[in-house]
Amino acid sequence: MIERRKSKIQGWGVFATETIPKNKRIIDYAGEKIPNKESLKREARYLEQGHIWCFKLTNRTAVDAHVGGNIARFINHSCKPNCYVQITDGVIWIRAAKTIRKGTELTYDYNTQGDATIPCKCRPGCTNFL
Ligand SMILES: C[S@@+](CC[C@H](N)C(=O)[O-])C[C@H]1O[C@@H](n2cnc3c(N)ncnc32)[C@H](O)[C@@H]1O
Ligand SMILES: [Zn+2]
Repeated sequence: MIERRKSKIQGWGVFATETIPKNKRIIDYAGEKIPNKESLKREARYLEQGHIWCFKLTNRTAVDAHVGGNIARFINHSCKPNCYVQITDGVIWIRAAKTIRKGTELTYDYNTQGDATIPCKCRPGCTNFL
């Protein structure tokens, strides 16, 4: 249903290899489950290299896709995404926010609330930061 390819947004991205229906659970954001305190430390280290890998799961835990992650870790951010995130029973699901046509890049909103300093390249002229 999906594959990793070079993205126009940044580096690698994930693309639909067939049409994906709205609300379909596409993939889970896999990785090592770690305490938030540890995630803050790792995230600072990753950010030095311009990467965001940790996904906040609860107020206490995060998932670090840099360790034991799957292809979901290559999904880029967009301010107008075609996917959304749903956390169910401790699993971070990436779901289709609309019908996604074959060949389209998958994106979701990282919701980093401007914590980081990476200029967003989701579309030409985007002025947000990840
Ligand atoms: C989870 S990775 C996504 C995969 C990444 N493109 C790669 O090749 O490894 C997250 C990183 O991708 C980049 N990224 C994702 N969405 C972006 C966007 N909209 N604008 C700029 N960089 C983005 C940032 O460097 C971010 O730290
Ligand atoms: Zn943007």
